[in-house]
Amino acid sequence: MMGLVSNQRGSTTPEGSVPKRKWSNLMPVFVALVVIAEIAFLGRLDMAKNAAMVDTLADLFYRSRVPVKSGDDLGLDMVRSSDHNSESETCEEWLEREDSVTYSRDFSKEPVLVSGADQEWNSCSVGCKFGFNGDRRPDAAFGLPQSAGTASVLRSMESSQYYAENNIAMARRRGYNIVMTTSLSSDVPVGYFSWAEYDIMAPVKPKTENALAAAFISNCGARNFRLQALEALENLKIMIDSYGGCHRNRDGRVDKVETLKRYKFSLAFENSNEEDYVTEKFFQSLVAGTIPVVVGPPNILDFAPSPDSILHIKELEDAESVAKSMRYLAGNPKAYNHSLRWKYEGPSDSFKALVDMAAVHSSCRLCIHLATISREKEEKSPDFKKRPCKCTRGPETVYHIYVRERGRFEMESIYLRSSNLTLEALKSAVFMKFKSLNHVPVWKAERPEILRRGNELKIYRIYPVGLTQREALYTFSFKGDVDFRSHLENNPCAKFEVIFV
Ligand SMILES: *[C@@H]1O[C@H](CO)[C@@H](O)[C@H](O)[C@H]1NC(C)=O
Ligand SMILES: *[C@@H]1O[C@H](CO)[C@@H](O)[C@H](O)[C@H]1NC(C)=O
Repeated sequence: MMGLVSNQRGSTTPEGSVPKRKWSNLMPVFVALVVIAEIAFLGRLDMAKNAAMVDTLADLFYRSRVPVKSGDDLGLDMVRSSDHNSESETCEEWLEREDSVTYSRDFSKEPVLVSGADQEWNSCSVGCKFGFNGDRRPDAAFGLPQSAGTASVLRSMESSQYYAENNIAMARRRGYNIVMTTSLSSDVPVGYFSWAEYDIMAPVKPKTENALAAAFISNCGARNFRLQALEALENLKIMIDSYGGCHRNRDGRVDKVETLKRYKFSLAFENSNEEDYVTEKFFQSLVAGTIPVVVGPPNILDFAPSPDSILHIKELEDAESVAKSMRYLAGNPKAYNHSLRWKYEGPSDSFKALVDMAAVHSSCRLCIHLATISREKEEKSPDFKKRPCKCTRGPETVYHIYVRERGRFEMESIYLRSSNLTLEALKSAVFMKFKSLNHVPVWKAERPEILRRGNELKIYRIYPVGLTQREALYTFSFKGDVDFRSHLENNPCAKFEVIFV
């Protein structure tokens, strides 16, 4: 396991192929100096030998970019013998040096600039500034159209069933470069969920109301069947206290969350059934420790703190079975308490990984997205194309891989060896790397105290940079080690993001 994170010198030298001559860690220029010094010292090289030497130097320079298997004959013996302090350079050391091409833009000196109300996102892991009166062209601005070189950004928290342009495909057709909506498939998702906004782990209070459920539905109109679902539950004799404009039977001038705490159920009915469109209705129900009865996105379970913690009216026909479940749970304190188990034991890793995303402000995530695109563009330049990204010595190839935590910008290097190029090895190398850095997860300060864990890191997902959060959290996985290996072959210096939970 340790061998994967090869900071240990010499650990990459494959057994049985201990190089006859150690690989020198000298830079070519230094090599040249040593050679010249030696020429001067020996002082007896004729022109012919000298010419031969130049050839060798050129060769050396070339070879230094492509490490060689032992057995090549390059006059390295002479170089090594004149360098008494030389140690064998590992593939890792060589890759670290050869792959470290510097990017032209230093975001700490030249932050990502987004046109918008003045604000500097100091806690952002990449230089990130919002403002109107910069003397330089902004990297991005909200709305359409934007001048060349400025990405146009759509940002909205409304459902696309009400605002058609929030549909990602539609927004792209209209010319938006970056889409920020509640959709986890958008470039930079802006959800309602967050630890800071909602005291999600607030304690459960006694259920003192006679009515089973409370509803805060401001108006009956909606682009789904929420009104019909409400009426269906009423017809099934579920007692509902309605505090909103729709079928109101209680005075609405109350504190919503405090009121919800007294009910066993809360009707969290969204105005549209759209993937990932989950609003405060749902999260306030979680804070209140009441079971949300949901009309809303088909994938609402992705947002549930544990699998059996919510009831879902997927279609109107479900009203009857949901009403039955409500009655059953209301009459069985143990079963009811079981549904709220997450309040005592903590929510699922899946839920934590979702809500943790909001620990980094969407404006900062926009800057990270922009800076990442900028770097990806630059990586298409000849300098970057020249990076070796892997190193073969003897039977072994070492792959250089980059990884960062989701929500942060800068990458860390890790190395995997061809003899152990597996997903398990990747996970282990990522773990060891961040452990060695004493890494503190980006959500640490944001999560409720009881969910912060100790200092031990726990990996939830590792996925290629560039995937959407929908893919990263729910749909993507490598199809085994072969798939992972082919990804590394097809993506030199592959970049990954890790989510800790
Ligand atoms: C509900 O379960 C938790 C443990 O999961 C327990 O601590 C709590 O007392 C229970 N509450 C009731 C009302 O039974
Ligand atoms: C390969 O990697 C796994 C996971 O890190 C590790 O447990 C195992 O010991 C490694 N095997 C070899 C041969 O290095």
